[in-house]
Amino acid sequence: MKLRDILAASVCGAVMAACAGNTTAVVNEKGLKDAVGDKFLIGTALNVWQSGGIDTSAIKIVKKHFNAIVAENCMKMEEVHPEEGVYDFKDADKFVNFGVDNGLTVTGHCLIWHSQCPAWFFLDDKGKTVTPEVLKQRMKEHITTVVTRYKGKIKGWDVVNEAIVEDGSYRKSKFYEILGEEFIPLAFQYAHEADPDVELYYNDYGMNVQGRRDAVVKMVKSLKERGLRIDAVGMQGHMGMDYPEIDEFEESMLAFASTGVKVMITEWEMSALPTVRRSANISDTVAFRKSLNPYPEALPDSVSKVWNERMAQFFSLFEKHADIVTRVTAWGVSDGDSWKNNFPVPGRKDYALLFDRDYQPKDFVKEIINK
Ligand code: XIL
Repeated sequence: MKLRDILAASVCGAVMAACAGNTTAVVNEKGLKDAVGDKFLIGTALNVWQSGGIDTSAIKIVKKHFNAIVAENCMKMEEVHPEEGVYDFKDADKFVNFGVDNGLTVTGHCLIWHSQCPAWFFLDDKGKTVTPEVLKQRMKEHITTVVTRYKGKIKGWDVVNEAIVEDGSYRKSKFYEILGEEFIPLAFQYAHEADPDVELYYNDYGMNVQGRRDAVVKMVKSLKERGLRIDAVGMQGHMGMDYPEIDEFEESMLAFASTGVKVMITEWEMSALPTVRRSANISDTVAFRKSLNPYPEALPDSVSKVWNERMAQFFSLFEKHADIVTRVTAWGVSDGDSWKNNFPVPGRKDYALLFDRDYQPKDFVKEIINK
């Protein structure tokens, strides 16, 4: 069992406990999606207990408040294509069917990403790095198989995820090492050939940073100049109490839109915990570890207030630019589900999402709903 699954299983345990004890959900209010109306889609990432129908408390929230979903993990390459010639679509099928059955807009995440990508993808049968031709062939085969399977059910795909780093250079991933910058246009080309009707997105984090912003703008322009399809840039909204600067984030939204694509806030959450910027060995003292997990019981009101204000400010920014923003998607349903409880430091208690551990909307969400 992978570490991620163990951590996720403990999250699921907490979820099940909450399911048993708390049914005071937001029964009579209108949903967040009703409040947002047709400004943009409002979505959430789902884990497999949610899309698999097990976590019924979360499912209630999803149906009431969201009109779009994305798979948190189950469509990634290590999940659907663990070995050469072996596909496993069990969880991905359940996820897509959940969306279709409930009339939700489904986003595929993701086709080409250096992370959660199995090692075999870059190796030949002697364990040597594959040639550019073999990698192209594998990318084409993977993308064609996955995209074709969900034709007509998925609105758009995160085709390439996290390919550019902060200074604006290309991430030195295996894809880049073997194919250079070409792996990006190739991925978009293969996806479009597999389903000419499906929308195609480039998705990345830290998009407020100028180096990455400029490089993404350049890359999108070059895709367009070559006549390739790209519909939107996804700005992962992994935020904290002290990053990103709202002005920088807005500047990036406008810069991406100026290339003629739409903007999506694709993985929105805000950690309420101290931002970790120091190296791991400094973190070895007990006091330091405690200082990183300061709210093991509950989030103090004073912190919650600042968190809610900051989330509200960002939401207002998204509304202000509703002409270019087509979707805002939270990276998980409730605080207990969030990957931030285990990243970048495992075992912390974070309060990063739109609904708390009892599936109650946070104050800024209530304000949006009641506006
Ligand atoms: C994360 C998931 O939330 C975790 O469960 C998993 O262990 C690691 O990946 N950028 C992305 C997402 O594009 O796919 C990542 O999701 C978070 C960062």
